[in-house]
Amino acid sequence: MKEKKGSFSGSIGFVLAAAGSAVGVGNIWRFPYLCAKDGGGLFLLIYLVLVLTFGFVLLTTDVAIGRKTKKNALNAFAAICPKWKFLGYLTFLVPVLIMTYYSVIGGWITKYFVEYLVSGDNVPAQDGYFTSFITSKAAPIVFMLLFLALTAAVVYGGVEKGIEKVSSFIMPVLVVLIVAIAIFSLTLSAEGEDGTVRTGMQGLAIYLLPDFHGLTVKRFLEILLDAMSQLFFSLSVSMGIMVTYGSYVKDDVDLNKTTSQIEIFDTGVAFLAGMMILPAVYVFLGKEGMASGPSLIFISLPKVFSAMRGAGRIVAIAFFLMMGFAALTSCVSVMETLVANCMEVFHQTRKKMCGLIGVYSLVTAVLICLGYNVLYFELPLPNGSTGQLLDVMDYISNSFLMPFISLLTSILIGWVIGPDWIVGEVEKNGECFTREKLYRFMIKYVVPVVMLILFLTSTGLWNR
Ligand code: PFF
Repeated sequence: MKEKKGSFSGSIGFVLAAAGSAVGVGNIWRFPYLCAKDGGGLFLLIYLVLVLTFGFVLLTTDVAIGRKTKKNALNAFAAICPKWKFLGYLTFLVPVLIMTYYSVIGGWITKYFVEYLVSGDNVPAQDGYFTSFITSKAAPIVFMLLFLALTAAVVYGGVEKGIEKVSSFIMPVLVVLIVAIAIFSLTLSAEGEDGTVRTGMQGLAIYLLPDFHGLTVKRFLEILLDAMSQLFFSLSVSMGIMVTYGSYVKDDVDLNKTTSQIEIFDTGVAFLAGMMILPAVYVFLGKEGMASGPSLIFISLPKVFSAMRGAGRIVAIAFFLMMGFAALTSCVSVMETLVANCMEVFHQTRKKMCGLIGVYSLVTAVLICLGYNVLYFELPLPNGSTGQLLDVMDYISNSFLMPFISLLTSILIGWVIGPDWIVGEVEKNGECFTREKLYRFMIKYVVPVVMLILFLTSTGLWNR
């Protein structure tokens, strides 16, 4: 039985839902630690240039493909050009892989939120807390289940009544919380072990000022790669998600304006996340603490909250609530993409496909949780690092598939059917495509070349 296709009520509903997908753990967790690792303002500057060029091109392409074909990735590429049907399958594979682990991370956030809410002391600040939690057998599965059930409930509610409604509530709350915590973070100060006083404003300066120290061409390329892969993940592009959300956009919505708003929202939140986290970490853990990498959120931040004493618990609750919100709307977009694609392909109802994808998500997420104990292994990855199950999924989807899909999409749009196809969709209602020339140039020449380099480098096929 075929169900009527859902749609967002209008431009604001679409922007908030798409921003809900884009703003997630990538902005709040990954962006600040990459920034601290890659020279502060230098990374910021590079990232900003990439958002305005690559981000804009890839986001516009995805959304326009969705709206013009009114189909999900699995059918959209075939509708553009039947020979390119395979690209739809490849694109669909990304949310299939991301779904396996995103709800697991959502579960970790839920656990921290609950822990701060119910236990008065700063339990998560204890040494070994995070490792002992993720390596335990039952707890990560229980919290993942909770997070997954919430996600499924929103997706089950449908496009307008579920996704749009929840995003329209969550996104403004998220912005208020993040701004409030960022302001608080800037007012902090504490005495370090060496007796000098460290302030939030000094931490802000380290975050914002470009650090050119030891910059070589190789190092610059590394930063560029970090920024580029962050951009894909953060904007949720080249994974069929924005194609699906684009297919729910009504024809009278101004795509030129809305894609710019999504870019601004996503980058703005990432920037604010840095402002919220890095100054506080600097004040209590010093410069070395700022460069603690992926452990920043789950290991370093609890120590910061603990050092804040009284206010720490309240800030921690607000922080993990905000982060849980961000993760929820992102996870919803991944699940929605899977459900919507299956509804279209199998001609089934939302209810049935929610059940199917729910079971898939549950089984795979349990396996990912077990990847930290009974299924533990360390697999060498082609980019030189090693990883267990979650890292492997993340590597295949983000480092391997996303640049490859962007490369193929840019060849399809730039050379096979021509950029007019997208430009026409953006200008459909007589709107002006403000960065049209840039779009044409980028999609034809720059995106294919850079994506090829990115793909070869991140897969280890080409050693810098
Ligand atoms: N854009 C989200 C973030 O920055 O966390 C992550 C994300 C959402 C990635 C949805 C992939 C995805 F399919």
